[in-house]
Amino acid sequence: MLTFHIVFVFISLASFTLRVLLLALKPALLQTKLFKITPHIIDTVLLLSGLNLVFQNQWLQGDFSWIIAKFLALLVYIGFGVMVMRMTGIKRWLAFVMALSLYGYIIAIAVTKYSFLGLL
Ligand code: HEM
Repeated sequence: MLTFHIVFVFISLASFTLRVLLLALKPALLQTKLFKITPHIIDTVLLLSGLNLVFQNQWLQGDFSWIIAKFLALLVYIGFGVMVMRMTGIKRWLAFVMALSLYGYIIAIAVTKYSFLGLL
């Protein structure tokens, strides 16, 4: 199940990056059903696989502050993701860099089970 989660971590990142590239190169493609629905399915599977790991490996029994930090960082990542899709020009690329940094930070929390910024 951990492998499944990690595979979706990469699929989700690839799907986000692809959409950002299309936004710059072929925005019309983003209006197709494929690109409107598939990302939601991928991200829901990622979320559910993470939740499943929380309960399967009983992560709520001990110190689970890293899970809360991961969740909050995920919300901030989603926020930057929305900004990327809505903004234009340099602001869009800045938001993209921030979103990627947050993604890296989420992975760092997951691997170390440690929150580097307190609750975030
Ligand atoms: C952007 C979203 C996410 C990313 C990038 C991500 C990344 C990762 C990575 C890389 C690992 C493997 C860490 C290791 O080497 O042990 C992991 C494990 C884990 N993730 Fe996620 N994850 C995400 C979302 C979630 C969500 C939403 C949850 C639950 C609410 C979650 C819960 C877990 C748990 C509990 C583990 C540890 C499993 C274990 O070692 O028993 N993840 N995550």
